[in-house]
Amino acid sequence: MTDTTISKTPKVLFVDDEENVVRALRRLCVDEDVEILTALSGAEGLEVVRQNPDLSLIVSDQRMPGMNGWEFLEKAGEVAPEALRIILTGYADVGAAINAINRGGAYRYITKPWNDDDFLMLIRDSVEKVRLIAENRCLTELTRKQNEELERWNTQLQVMVQEQTVDIQGKNKELEKLNEQLRRNFRSSIEAFTALIEMRERSVSSHSKNVASCARLIAVGMSLPENEVSDIIVSSLLHDIGKIGVSDAVLMKEEAQLSESERKEYQLHAVRGQVAVESIEGFRDIGVIIRHHHEHVDGTGYPDGLKRNAIPLGSRVIAIADAVDKITGSDPLSPASYEKAARDIEFYLDTRFDRAVFGVAAAILKKKAEDLSGQPKEPEVEVHPTRLLTGMVLSRDIRSGTGLLILARDVVLDGKIIAGLQRYYKIDPPKTGIFVRRSSIGKPQ
Ligand SMILES: [Fe+2]
Ligand SMILES: [Fe+2]
Repeated sequence: MTDTTISKTPKVLFVDDEENVVRALRRLCVDEDVEILTALSGAEGLEVVRQNPDLSLIVSDQRMPGMNGWEFLEKAGEVAPEALRIILTGYADVGAAINAINRGGAYRYITKPWNDDDFLMLIRDSVEKVRLIAENRCLTELTRKQNEELERWNTQLQVMVQEQTVDIQGKNKELEKLNEQLRRNFRSSIEAFTALIEMRERSVSSHSKNVASCARLIAVGMSLPENEVSDIIVSSLLHDIGKIGVSDAVLMKEEAQLSESERKEYQLHAVRGQVAVESIEGFRDIGVIIRHHHEHVDGTGYPDGLKRNAIPLGSRVIAIADAVDKITGSDPLSPASYEKAARDIEFYLDTRFDRAVFGVAAAILKKKAEDLSGQPKEPEVEVHPTRLLTGMVLSRDIRSGTGLLILARDVVLDGKIIAGLQRYYKIDPPKTGIFVRRSSIGKPQ
């Protein structure tokens, strides 16, 4: 303990008008580790107390001329409230002892004549008690200070945590922004690939996008996890990318008119598609889905003749979405197209197409047919490229003068797209204006 109030020698004051008593008491304590102070009257005693308010123990005789023992103790208590007080009384002086305890704040009373050993024990106990009380007070004070310190640290810590949280939130926002940029870049790259496929096979404009949109509805309808839905969408957009390597002569023909060698060349597009994308980081699964998009559940498809669940689910979804687009492509706004798609695909259930996937697709096709039959064909307006406004929605595909697909129907125009279109109309002007949905005119976004 570093506090000097605890480690210093305790002070004990003896007050008695009889000098021999005072001397006897001093003698009694001669070997004790205490500092002895003495006084021969209450008044003198009070003076000593005033000069030594850090007294540990005051022992006073009751019977003294002038100021009696309990009166003295009462006054001494006001000056040194922490000192323990003991009164010395005669046997017959019970009233004085009671007063000393009740009014003088005495802690004990000792009858004269006292037993030396008992008295010494009492002095030691009292001094020890005062020391413990002081030590306790010091420890309490120390604890209070440490608590205050802890509280201060806590507050500082909270401030630091808050600062770091703000910092982390800022970094998260930056990361989100970067992620969004990456996603945009990724989408643009996929769109560029898709455009390449469609450039290669002009007869099937927007096929990839239509397959992707139908496959997405099916995948979401099957409650697939978000990453699987995303893989299915990207696979759908790229499923025919292998056709870039197929010769024009083969691509121009209907599948039924192909010779055996041409069919083999055509069928290679599935494997070529896989080879084209699987070297891209994170595209391994997408490559596998693309490879198997022409498998049949009875094992008669290509390239590997896989059966049922051995065919990746994504490939089974794309197979149905692909068939839907091929059947409805010639008349995409007619409800009958979707009813026919549902009938035709159902016919090939368990041979070409997967029954579980069809269960979801059938509901989507039914709803599409209902939606279309409830709606008259939406009127469209031909607009000159210089009069395009943001928010307009394309009602037809836009092709360049030489037949390249520039934009697919249903695209919502924004400033960037409009500027691009206007450039195209200068370089390779299409034969018509741009057809937009009448309902989207006059609704700039
Ligand atoms: Fe294909
Ligand atoms: Fe296809």
